[in-house]
Amino acid sequence: MGARGKLAQMSIRNVHKTYSIQGEKIHALKGVDMDIEDGSLVCIVGKSGCGKSTLLKLMCSLESKDEGDIAFGNGIKDLPKVSIVFQEPRLMPWLTVRKNIEFPIKGKLGKKELEKRVTGQLEMLGIREFENAYPSQVSGGMAQRVSLGRTLCYEPDIILMDEPLGALDAFNRKKLQDEIVSIFKNEKKTILFVTHDVEEALILGQKIIVMEEGKVKDSLDVEMEYPRNPSSVEFINLKKRILSLIFG
Ligand SMILES: Nc1ncnc2c1ncn2[C@@H]1O[C@H](COP(=O)(O)OP(=O)(O)O)[C@@H](O)[C@H]1O
Ligand SMILES: [Mg+2]
Repeated sequence: MGARGKLAQMSIRNVHKTYSIQGEKIHALKGVDMDIEDGSLVCIVGKSGCGKSTLLKLMCSLESKDEGDIAFGNGIKDLPKVSIVFQEPRLMPWLTVRKNIEFPIKGKLGKKELEKRVTGQLEMLGIREFENAYPSQVSGGMAQRVSLGRTLCYEPDIILMDEPLGALDAFNRKKLQDEIVSIFKNEKKTILFVTHDVEEALILGQKIIVMEEGKVKDSLDVEMEYPRNPSSVEFINLKKRILSLIFG
């Protein structure tokens, strides 16, 4: 753990968020309570519109909450670095793959150090040979790897992922799921992964939180070892349980 303590621990209490569209109020979060342990991989599942994206946006201050608390760390003052990956890669079309990845840390590291860190990410994500390509020249799966590489380069303590694999084909999706598990194991990051795919949540999560209509409905610890086997009895039973929590 080191001197930084449990920096990436997160405690969410009674969080509310209301949006307003032309005078009409939408109560997106209605008192969310959640605890995220430092160094854990937690998945949030729930029907579309239940408030998953809103919650992630509040966690990284892209939106502000109306009420409640979002506290980080173990009572220490230092704030963790929080970073978010969206479903669409949101790359800058005028920059190459390499330049997109180095973007968040450009100017913060010496030239050599920067180059080394970006090369490391390119290699880890298997996109080194595309480093000079532009976003329009790479596939969706590649682009999402670039987006992930850009996030990892920034070395966040907490990575928030909002259905990052939702737009990928089954093959790339499976590959990136495996990569996320290995990033989690090797880099010991705290990862919060939103998905509407229960099977994906079971492949990734140590804990699965089920949301419903702006609240946490239930949460389950998943004890299975990685890599998880979707045809095992334990997997299938947990899947049934979560599906019935979501769809009743
Ligand atoms: N920027 C916004 N303005 C108004 N309403 C919003 C906005 N973002 C989300 N909502 C509404 O808030 C609710 C929760 O949305 P969201 O957090 O995106 O859910 P999820 O990610 O689980 O699908 C939905 O009813 C959605 O329509
Ligand atoms: Mg969403």
